[in-house]
Amino acid sequence: MTDTEPNPETDGGVDADAGVDEAADVEQVTSVSIADPELSDDAVRRVQAVLEDGRLADGPEVRAFEEEFAAYCGTDDAVATSNGTTALHAALEAIGLEEGDAVITSPFSFVASANAIRLAGGKPVFADVDPETYTLDPADVERVLAEREDIVGIVPVHLYGLAADMPALCEIADEHDLFVVEDACQAHGATVDGTRVGGFGDAACFSFYPTKNMTTGEGGMIVTDRDDVAERAASYVNHGRDVSGTGGYDHVDLGHNFRMTSIAAAIGRVQLEQLSAFNRARRQTADFYDDRLADLPLETPTEPTGYRHVYHQYTVRTEDRDALEATLAERDVGTGVYYDTPIHHQPAYETISTAAARLPAAERAADEVLSLPVHPNLSERDSRTVVEAVRDHFTTQ
Ligand SMILES: Cc1ncc(COP(=O)(O)O)c(C=O)c1O
Repeated sequence: MTDTEPNPETDGGVDADAGVDEAADVEQVTSVSIADPELSDDAVRRVQAVLEDGRLADGPEVRAFEEEFAAYCGTDDAVATSNGTTALHAALEAIGLEEGDAVITSPFSFVASANAIRLAGGKPVFADVDPETYTLDPADVERVLAEREDIVGIVPVHLYGLAADMPALCEIADEHDLFVVEDACQAHGATVDGTRVGGFGDAACFSFYPTKNMTTGEGGMIVTDRDDVAERAASYVNHGRDVSGTGGYDHVDLGHNFRMTSIAAAIGRVQLEQLSAFNRARRQTADFYDDRLADLPLETPTEPTGYRHVYHQYTVRTEDRDALEATLAERDVGTGVYYDTPIHHQPAYETISTAAARLPAAERAADEVLSLPVHPNLSERDSRTVVEAVRDHFTTQ
């Protein structure tokens, strides 16, 4: 698959080489938000066109967005949904998850990753994450597989914009005859060895929530190379309607209304055109931070060889997390803790069989991670403000 990303050196984002100390103008207090979705005039025009056309729910705009998103991911098919959670739920139904099926997933994610497994009738089983990448640790997945015989699939999460170790996880899945549904809700455009996420599993799911690398307001997408999965997912999101026939009211299976609106699709098509530039800007800000925070007592994000991180979040880690968060709040720099409670410790998971498991890497990460602003609308001054505030926290204590 060709990587159509434009040249990061020549376009957009902050200048990674710009010096922090050039920033005399930072003295003026600025507030920097953790997320700032950008909707272009083109998106407004395309939404207007949909409103005038009148086909607001489903329809040609949604079909076009599906085709374009599948092409971007290098997959044969895509099915648009109302959000990322419904994408995961429908994908798992389409894969054929049955009541009580056990599925390995990450405890260090947004709760939707595991909720979708439960909503589709399955049982989430947590394996620990790698302490540097925060994504499923293949060795711990092997440990779980050695302990139990009821696992039917894996839902790896590409957290913060970094793909999970898909080569290793797909190999494990092959060996044990497990399905793989990628939770790519935070990683539009991330790659491993040149392959975009979405191209590894039996299916993959994306979210277009406003803070994500691209948005439709609310929205989601399933991508897959499997015709059977695409067909069942398209049916499931539309009340189990027969998608092969006349488009009439033949409902061959139980399903939901998880459809995307045409308004969301119109926004998504424009956002997809901008995604490469958005990701490039995120990467340039990440470079800028990497260079200027490297000497501080915190860990900056890892980008393993062969991986292309798209920095949905730029997440640092320090034992001093709560104090750093407070300092940045005082300086009007928005931050986020994603996530301070691992899923297996959420009250809603008390009854899940692995809720009491010890998953030390996930538990430590939950106490130490802090995400800094990295959205594509950050100005160079914003990025310098963030760096100065973080540096001041560690150097003036
Ligand atoms: C990892 C992950 N999975 C699933 C979801 C669910 O997506 P949505 O909020 O669009 O339902 C999200 C959204 O935050 C997410 O970050």
